[in-house]
Amino acid sequence: MKILVTGGCGFIGSNFIRHILKCHPDYFLINVDKLTYAGNLENLSDLSDSPRYRFIRGDIADAPRIEELVSQGVETIVNFAAESHVDRSIEDPGAFMKTNVFGTFVLLEAMRKVFQKRQIRFLHISTDEVYGSLGESGAFTETTPLAPNSPYSASKTAADMLVRAYHHTYGLPALVTRCSNNYGPYQFPEKLIPLMISNALEDKELPIYGDGMNVRDWIYVEDHCRALDVVLHRGKEGEVYNVGGRSEKPNITVAKTILDRLGKPHSLIRYVADRPGHDRRYAIDFSKIERELGWKPSVSFEEGIRLTIEWYQAHREWWKKIKTGDYLDYYNRMYKDR
Ligand code: NAD
Ligand code: DAU
Repeated sequence: MKILVTGGCGFIGSNFIRHILKCHPDYFLINVDKLTYAGNLENLSDLSDSPRYRFIRGDIADAPRIEELVSQGVETIVNFAAESHVDRSIEDPGAFMKTNVFGTFVLLEAMRKVFQKRQIRFLHISTDEVYGSLGESGAFTETTPLAPNSPYSASKTAADMLVRAYHHTYGLPALVTRCSNNYGPYQFPEKLIPLMISNALEDKELPIYGDGMNVRDWIYVEDHCRALDVVLHRGKEGEVYNVGGRSEKPNITVAKTILDRLGKPHSLIRYVADRPGHDRRYAIDFSKIERELGWKPSVSFEEGIRLTIEWYQAHREWWKKIKTGDYLDYYNRMYKDR
């Protein structure tokens, strides 16, 4: 099978590419990535000589380029490409609309031109943030009404709904997954877990928003990649599949767990001003994918956080190189007076 992956130089995309090449020895992958601040060729440098992998620098919002790529016998498109960080969407939403909304539209239009002539499928990577925020109890199911709260989640909801509309209107063979918070190797150190680990390793403060009691459901990235593999091969077109880690934790618990595992003091925690519009709690009911496709998470939070901490300890050069220049400007803007 020939798969076009978008955004494969980011966190989940790079893990997914490695997973697919390992588990499907006859597959060929094209990775189109714009290489924004979050895209990093080093995430896949071990594959540069692989005859089954090709990297192309490109923007999913560039329609002629995308049409040309799709015309090269691609049988599946897996769309990871996105601006993915909520805080950045609050600061500057424009790029989120261009990539997440318009870029997805461009991909769907390229699909529309070919899908009736030949076999092709579209797997869109959405997010549980499309559902908005939960109270003390309950969990998102695939039929929970969508109620996004940040510019990031609104842009992801627009994309998710475009995929739905193209399936409903044109019969375009598309599937959507909505996953909770991923963590693991190669995650950009602006996100909670890699930020907490790398700051702790440098004896820097760990900034915790608000009261630290916002809850996220954490899934180890390899489990997410396995879920995507299953949906890609056995999912039903037109369907949405929730994917979760069965690991709900308040942010302060995550920060303290990381400090304890590294033998660092809790005094490194600094409570800072809250994120505007901060969603209080996410929890995901993934019984549909479990029942229909036989997937469930296999890595516990205890195991996943151990593996992740070990990876960041062993790859200091990777994140130290990132935490310079533009990253420091961003970090100071985000946290200095917070
Ligand atoms: P990331 O920010 O690490 O990677 C995004 C990648 O997309 C980067 O390589 C970037 O260069 C590329 N990109 C950005 N704009 C592009 C464009 N216009 N054209 C081509 N490439 C472009 O993100 P991630 O955390 O790996 O998330 C991947 C996808 O999964 C996103 O769609 C995100 O919404 C979704 N998702 C993420 C999580 C999570 O916890 N990280 C959870 C659920 C869903
Ligand atoms: O739920 C899926 C989503 O998870 C994905 O769609 C997004 O792409 C991904 O970025 C992630 O969004 P979050 O906003 O939940 O992730 P983030 O790592 O930015 O924050 C996790 C929680 O930690 C959130 O409640 C905010 C808090 N936080 C975050 C940072 C960066 C802090 O308290 N301090 C911080 O410095």
